[in-house]
Amino acid sequence: MTDRYAVIGNPIAQSKSPILHTAFARQFGHDLRYEALLAEHDTFTEVVSRFIAEGGKGMNVTAPFKLAALEFADTLSDRAQAAQAINTLKFGPDGVYGDNTDGIGLVSDIQDRLGVSLEGRRLLVIGAGGAARGILLPLLQAAPDYLLLVNRTEHKAHDLLADRRQAGKIEAGPLGAVAGGRFDVVINATSASLSGAHLPLASGVFAPGSLAYDLVYGKGDTAFMADARELGAGRVSDGLGMLVGQAAESYRLWHGRQPEVEPVMAMLR
Ligand code: ATR
Repeated sequence: MTDRYAVIGNPIAQSKSPILHTAFARQFGHDLRYEALLAEHDTFTEVVSRFIAEGGKGMNVTAPFKLAALEFADTLSDRAQAAQAINTLKFGPDGVYGDNTDGIGLVSDIQDRLGVSLEGRRLLVIGAGGAARGILLPLLQAAPDYLLLVNRTEHKAHDLLADRRQAGKIEAGPLGAVAGGRFDVVINATSASLSGAHLPLASGVFAPGSLAYDLVYGKGDTAFMADARELGAGRVSDGLGMLVGQAAESYRLWHGRQPEVEPVMAMLR
């Protein structure tokens, strides 16, 4: 019987997950069906429960249900717990397992596809919303020498790091705290790019050969990417590779096989 998987969200028509998972399945000759499911705010549980009852094996979760999925899951991975959000559900005899593959998708895109090792490097993360929370633990697990988290609303940056201080050389501060710093990898986890807003980046923030990475994708160069080029970043990337990377990690969780991301990136571009 064909195994069933799905992505759930609202809206959902724009989701690339069906294309990604179908492309991965083709790499292994896996027989699976991957659907896009629309739910309303009050029908998330109902739609997921019905999918499980019909034999669904797993589900990706996108906005606005990443928090609802956290409530729905019986057990959580550490990174889902840290992110306080879920993008991957696995349905099995032991119940519903919730994971978050966004952060590892980012880390594997930076390290494996772009070839930039995070170990021993100086990292700057800008933003302290849901996107930043989702990537923090996997970034720290990659053993950077130092991580500075800055946010327009400073207290949110401190809140996000509150229980992680002991994990290494990590600091939080306002956007202005980047001045005078020099970083090997600068990650824009704000939603500023979505509105075309510029971040106040000081010159000297980008170390020679540094990587500037915007979690946003699909709109050509964002304001952040353009500014980073101007300020001397060695390389600049949007977040398309993270999107493919999180899907690849979900695929691995469900099927135990690690798909190749490069051909799928090429197809999307
Ligand atoms: P997401 O889930 O995408 O992270 P979010 O939780 O609403 O969305 O968080 C948006 C993040 O982008 C926040 O860190 C926000 O800063 P504030 O906490 O100060 O609101 C940041 N952000 C959005 N627009 C920004 C801008 N123009 N300049 C700087 N930071 C911005």
